[in-house]
Amino acid sequence: MKTNLLSSAPSQLETDCLVVVTLDRSEKETTGKGRGVKSVNNINNKKDRSEKNRAGTEKDNDTEKPEPTIECADAAIREAAKDLIASGEVTARMFETTLLHRPAGVKAKRLLLLGGGKAKNFSAAELRKLAGTAVRTLKGKSIRNFAIALPGSGVGGPEAVSAIVEGAFVGNFDADYYKSDRKDQKIDAITIVAEGGGHGDMKLLENAMQTGRIVAESQNFARDLINEPSNRMTPTILAERAKQMAEEVGLKCEDYGADKIRQLKMGAFWGVAQGSDEPPTLIVLRYEPAGAAPAGAAKDVHIGLVGKGVTFDTGGISIKPADGMEKMKYDMAGAATMIGVMRAIALLKPNIKVTAIILATENMPSGKAQKPGDVQIAMSGKSIEIINTDAEGRLILADGLTYARSLGCTHLIDAATLTGAVVVALGMVNAGIFASTDEMYERFANANKLAGEKMWRLPLDDEYKENLKSNIADMVNAGSRYGGAIFAAMFLKEFAEDTPWIHLDIAGTAWMEENKPWIAKGPSGIALRSLVEFVKGWSE
Ligand code: BES
Ligand code: MN
Ligand code: ZN
Repeated sequence: MKTNLLSSAPSQLETDCLVVVTLDRSEKETTGKGRGVKSVNNINNKKDRSEKNRAGTEKDNDTEKPEPTIECADAAIREAAKDLIASGEVTARMFETTLLHRPAGVKAKRLLLLGGGKAKNFSAAELRKLAGTAVRTLKGKSIRNFAIALPGSGVGGPEAVSAIVEGAFVGNFDADYYKSDRKDQKIDAITIVAEGGGHGDMKLLENAMQTGRIVAESQNFARDLINEPSNRMTPTILAERAKQMAEEVGLKCEDYGADKIRQLKMGAFWGVAQGSDEPPTLIVLRYEPAGAAPAGAAKDVHIGLVGKGVTFDTGGISIKPADGMEKMKYDMAGAATMIGVMRAIALLKPNIKVTAIILATENMPSGKAQKPGDVQIAMSGKSIEIINTDAEGRLILADGLTYARSLGCTHLIDAATLTGAVVVALGMVNAGIFASTDEMYERFANANKLAGEKMWRLPLDDEYKENLKSNIADMVNAGSRYGGAIFAAMFLKEFAEDTPWIHLDIAGTAWMEENKPWIAKGPSGIALRSLVEFVKGWSE
């Protein structure tokens, strides 16, 4: 998809469709649902108003009318949409689409009004989703290019431009490769219109457009890898794809096989890999900023990204039920995400050292497979009693974390589709964040906010450590059903040791079960944008 940036008046632009955001400026909430939540959200920035809201919404809640406004300074656009607005048809609620053909006084063939919800809640996160919604709405109507006007409030400048580009690329992705009647509907080009002044320097907007593009293309790259079924995405193929990408963007990539894994004494990783005929791979991607020692605060920082790359998880001898097992092809989403992050980093060139370590293997039952009760010695020297061979992700990550520390990483993040328990805890809305230090958490939470991805912190209290006890080894790999996502994180923490560390459990969020207005069902690419922002955060 081509992306252009223009500073002309939107009404003068010849395009198949001009997309303009509408926002609801009414102060009160129109529905009772979620009112309390919104009030709480508002406390940060607009305390007074939200206090007033809470009192005022009790009685006249249902009679409140939306007050839709057109987010475009161009008077000709507002004039063209005047009758529609006056008719009451447009409410500006989130994701509402209203298409107007041959708008009077406007050169575009169509005008698409796109609802962004309450003006006071509108931010880059909403704008990103709206751009995706515009793409998905218009490509279904066989439109191949459109223009979108930068909204005048809530978010602006470079932040708005990169949000639009990211949302548009993410929305343009569909996972229907293997359908012979694939429609292949795609948007070919979008133009972002920053009319008049007020949006800042065009050069800055141009940079934001390129950055957004790199991040979103990396996210789609990861989604492509995740989408492949396990017969077309073995550990060997994953390594090949990583190598090919590394060559394209100028990264160093090493890929090792079974011999090196055993030589490094990665007994936990090998324990999982030994049961499969498909050879495992250990992929290392290295990014080092140009120039000698990077200057400034990030001088001694070396970030290690560790990804779970189980290309298929049958559960092993503790085999999973048949129902839904096909989904376990996406058990390498953490690995794909980290490979995608490295792609973005190689192109964005932040001033910080980053190494990604990908542990790729299948988890299979066979005559060679590890069995419940087996004891494996991890690379760190710790012994693990295997209670459940389906708790394999934590085993391979354990050795990944130890290896990252041995390479000199000072800060660690892992991403993994690790537990069904995180899906029970947070559903398919939020990914789970676990952090060994508040400082790491704060940094990550900031990045996560910028990226507009939903994640929620879960605890790592010492009390949970009790569950790790084994009768014959240093620890067990699985315990009680309760607090399963926390147990898995506590297990990993034993291997991160005293290195500041974050664990992202993306089991519930890496795969979208349903289409959403802004994103297709299938692989989501969750966590990639937050991780890229996190890395960038160190070099600023
Ligand atoms: N890959 C699964 C976790 C998973 C579940 C990913 C649902 C995506 C969607 C993981 O390896 C696993 O099997 N975890 C077990 C652990 C248990 C045996 C302690 C689980 O969560 O059931
Ligand atoms: Mn498993
Ligand atoms: Zn798994």
